[in-house]
Amino acid sequence: MATINSNYNKLKAGYLFPEIARRTKEFQEKNPGVEIMRLGIGNTTEPLAPHVIEGLHRGVDKLAKVETYTGYGDEQGNTSLRKAIAEAYKSRLNVTLEPTEIFISDGAKCDSANIQTIFGTNNIVAVQDPAYPVYVDTNIIAGREIVYMPCNEKNYFFPEIPSVKVDLIYLCSPNNPTGAVPTRQELYEFVKYAKQNKAVIIFDAAYSEYISNPSLPKSIYEIDGAKECAIEVNSFSKSAGFTGVRLGFTIVPYALVAEDTTAGRVNQMWNRRQTTFFNGASNIVQEGGLSAMDATGYVQNMDTVRYYMENARIIRHGLMDKFVVYGGKDAPFLWVKTPNGMDSWKFFDKMLEEAHVVITPGSGFGPSGEGFFRVSAFGHRSNVEKAVVSIQKNLRV
Ligand code: MLT
Repeated sequence: MATINSNYNKLKAGYLFPEIARRTKEFQEKNPGVEIMRLGIGNTTEPLAPHVIEGLHRGVDKLAKVETYTGYGDEQGNTSLRKAIAEAYKSRLNVTLEPTEIFISDGAKCDSANIQTIFGTNNIVAVQDPAYPVYVDTNIIAGREIVYMPCNEKNYFFPEIPSVKVDLIYLCSPNNPTGAVPTRQELYEFVKYAKQNKAVIIFDAAYSEYISNPSLPKSIYEIDGAKECAIEVNSFSKSAGFTGVRLGFTIVPYALVAEDTTAGRVNQMWNRRQTTFFNGASNIVQEGGLSAMDATGYVQNMDTVRYYMENARIIRHGLMDKFVVYGGKDAPFLWVKTPNGMDSWKFFDKMLEEAHVVITPGSGFGPSGEGFFRVSAFGHRSNVEKAVVSIQKNLRV
């Protein structure tokens, strides 16, 4: 008899975003003709940069000729793209990486879900609370114990180092959903803790290009000693609009050690995992990624990042009169208190019914998210402006 992984029974019934989509669809069916404005999921809406489009076309054209056609590529990603990422980390952040420490994938969601598979199931996992649900759900599926690190108004939404011994620590900066960005000193405290306790930090930097304050770190490797204890996951989704195109990467430094493994062992294990489970990112998409990484692509992509950040400013400005608003300064997410401590899902329904705006209920990101909601700055400007006006005019708070 085949048995199932009963850890699935411990999960909440549905993943957060499909549940939001289900409720939105139900509302739409009951209220045909009502225009709904979506500031829920962090899904990009603006066209790809022209230079990136050229790269994607180049990738297609290469497949049309026998001299340039490629089939399977390296599971770890094309050498040229791995080198381009290493060069970008050096020139933009002064972080030195070997290209072979960088593993290209079809997105940061898969990597942040899969990375836990190379660690023991007896590891105790610390997550920021609230956090991107993938960290918690994948570790519950694997049967690990979770320790929540509360992020609240008192600690400016960045947690104190764990008071109990933990083995894997997930940090996301800028944080999804709160938009909080730790300082160098705050990250240093975590690196120090990880090294002292032989813990490994999994650092999700998917939104790092939204940090405009130059004193804030974009990569954990800007912190001394981090290569010995941290893995970084990153994405082309939010920095280059690849949410539908799919491209990401994970950095596993050779210096990283876990328990008493030798340096390089964790890198080899991730290499083994990826070569076994994955056949490499699409060759066309990697050509697009190469264009996104070069100087022209970067400049064009940053224009789009600024566009979304102007949305964030408009939302922030528009909500400040009615709500206590956090985030949205170095991140494309705003983290907002529900009025009178209202339950997050109840407020989700109220927002949809009265203002016809979709937001994300804070409790979907963890227990400390209760009493908050997240507003995404990804959207067409006109839609964002309409949503803000509708909240101001129609929401009864
Ligand atoms: C979010 O809205 O939190 C993200 O867009 C979801 C994701 O990146 O998977």
